[in-house]
Amino acid sequence: MNILVTGGAGFIGRWVVLQLLRMGHHVWVVDDLSNGRAENLEFTADELGWTDGPVGAFCTGINVGKLTFEVGDICDTSLLRKWFEDYRFQLCYHLAAEINVQKSIDFPQDTFRRDVEGTFGLLELCRAFQCRFVFMSTCMVYAPFDITLSAIDSTTSCGGDKEATNRCQKVSEK
Ligand SMILES: NC(=O)c1ccc[n+]([C@@H]2O[C@H](COP(=O)([O-])OP(=O)(O)OC[C@H]3O[C@@H](n4cnc5c(N)ncnc54)[C@H](O)[C@@H]3O)[C@@H](O)[C@H]2O)c1
Repeated sequence: MNILVTGGAGFIGRWVVLQLLRMGHHVWVVDDLSNGRAENLEFTADELGWTDGPVGAFCTGINVGKLTFEVGDICDTSLLRKWFEDYRFQLCYHLAAEINVQKSIDFPQDTFRRDVEGTFGLLELCRAFQCRFVFMSTCMVYAPFDITLSAIDSTTSCGGDKEATNRCQKVSEK
């Protein structure tokens, strides 16, 4: 399968990408490295379970084996549209987001742009190209200390933006 992973150079993305490569999929990663690291995508042949595959470091923007990594912003819809046209992704794991609560308080407009506008643009592309979409939400959309996890009541800008993207995704499913 051709699979797009946004935020693939991040903490969770690295392991998602590794698992997809191990399963034999072709993976495209877009990450602006605002919180991720290119080195997170340096897999050893041992990790990949490949005997003749690429080992070690590679440079950004270079296609190595079944992994393509581009330093870019999910809000750059021209890059993403071209990728969707060229590679016809069947699946998109959307992990790119601002996860730093303090940054979301200090720079709410930037967080809104990344989380809400970025996700909305991606949802539109997935709809246009009939690509399935896997979204990572966060416990921060729930009211603090509500152990039932039923009350959607975020108290931070970060959680509020995620809540909005949850809603965008629900609407897009209809
Ligand atoms: N780590 C957790 O415990 C946890 C818990 C709940 C939810 N989540 C969610 O999982 C997802 C991944 O979290 P993580 O812990 O791996 O965070 P992370 O910060 O390590 O990964 C997110 C990646 O997205 C990238 N990114 C941010 N904005 C971008 C943009 N505009 N364009 C391209 N790339 C961008 C960052 O550089 C980073 O590499 C997030 O959506 C987060 O809210 C994580």
